[in-house]
Amino acid sequence: MKRIITGGTVVTASDTFAADVLIEDAKITGLLLPGTGPKDAEAIDAKGCYVIPGGIDVHTHLDMPFGGTNSIDDFESGTVAAAFGGTTTLVDFAIQAKGTSMKQALDTWHAKAEGRTMVDYGFHMIATDLAPQYLSEMADIVREGVTSFKLFMAYPGVLLLDDQSIFRGMLRAGEIGATICMHAETGLPIDVLVERALAAGHTAPIYHALTRPEVAEATGTERAIALAEMANVPVYIVHLSAQRALERVMEARDRGLPAFAETCPQYLFLSEDDLRGTAEDPFEGAKYVCTPPLRPAHHHDHLWRGLRNYDLQVVATDHCPFCMKGQKELGKDSFAKIPNGMPGVETRLHLLYEGVRQGHIGLNRFVEISSTAPAKIFGMYPKKGTIAVGSDADIVVWDPNKQFELSHKNLHMKADYAAYEGKVVTGAPKTVLSRGETVIADTTKLVGKKGRGKFLRRGGLGV
Ligand code: URP
Ligand code: ZN
Ligand code: ZN
Repeated sequence: MKRIITGGTVVTASDTFAADVLIEDAKITGLLLPGTGPKDAEAIDAKGCYVIPGGIDVHTHLDMPFGGTNSIDDFESGTVAAAFGGTTTLVDFAIQAKGTSMKQALDTWHAKAEGRTMVDYGFHMIATDLAPQYLSEMADIVREGVTSFKLFMAYPGVLLLDDQSIFRGMLRAGEIGATICMHAETGLPIDVLVERALAAGHTAPIYHALTRPEVAEATGTERAIALAEMANVPVYIVHLSAQRALERVMEARDRGLPAFAETCPQYLFLSEDDLRGTAEDPFEGAKYVCTPPLRPAHHHDHLWRGLRNYDLQVVATDHCPFCMKGQKELGKDSFAKIPNGMPGVETRLHLLYEGVRQGHIGLNRFVEISSTAPAKIFGMYPKKGTIAVGSDADIVVWDPNKQFELSHKNLHMKADYAAYEGKVVTGAPKTVLSRGETVIADTTKLVGKKGRGKFLRRGGLGV
């Protein structure tokens, strides 16, 4: 199969240039002067469009048991939604259940995903039990192509690990060339604040934010980085939401440590005010309960500056969707019982491109934070994350003038609400290719075959 993307402007993390992109089977085989490609290749029109590498979302939770229910998108609906949004690779989280092996968790997550995904996917491993028999399994997990482990400093009794276990896990990860992803919030005092709020009768969603202060994230981030420094392991802070945590990452990077951080669109575009819901119904705020919580809007500028200045490396989604009906409403009487998480896998590129249009980041940086940097950090580059000869033909033809409303009626994520209902953005995927096959055509047509996505064995840190 020979195809050629013609008439567009190729944008990578480093360059912007006019070229036609030749694709043979699943790979990019040429970047050609416009109009000079083989005549027998099937043409894909990109006139007036940018040709960018497919998005890579390294933080999703599909079909994940959490808060007494399961995230509502499974590997089928979640990867279809990703494709509509121009994301062609996901890295999801397998979860080790306490007292059971990581191998068992990996088998369970493979069974959830295999034969169901529209785009390629990999896994991180959430370690919840680092007893000696499980610590010694970590090298086997890395050999399976799962080269990063997420550890939690929050959610006591569920996912939280004590510092000694975290440190043992970090030491082992350092020895075997793996990366530690950290949920960096100091979780035990947070639970005391939650207890006190509930005892005082404060049950509404806004108390989710008021009981998880910024300082809890800042101390968690500092502690995660300090432990990683002692263990000599790269650390990647997931879903960073606030200025003080960012400053801890900046200090570490200034000292030359291999510390990385991602933020998410919800921390750039939404705020604590959304958690207040409406005057008629404060519980509407449950739509926006995620952890760390949405912060006051003045944090947005700090996060955009962090992205611009390379203090933050990645924007991922933390896509963890729950319906209001039957799921979020489990917390009607207590904000602490609202399942944590928001839908987002489909709208990440649209929102980040708004950041380009508003002057927060440049076009090349847009590509870098949404595709190239996550590919490098998580061992997928240059197979994924760029437009270069030999790379997988995971490509988005991005129409910079297309108006698109981020409303529930236009989206494919299964949550029964949209986090940005009514927001109209300019710029959307026109055509989405995964390994050379068109999966989305004309922005709204799903043409990829169900189950065509492949598991991706990842390598180590590549920056
Ligand atoms: O609210 C969130 N973030 N839900 C998913 C679990 C996590 O901590 O990433
Ligand atoms: Zn987390
Ligand atoms: Zn998450």
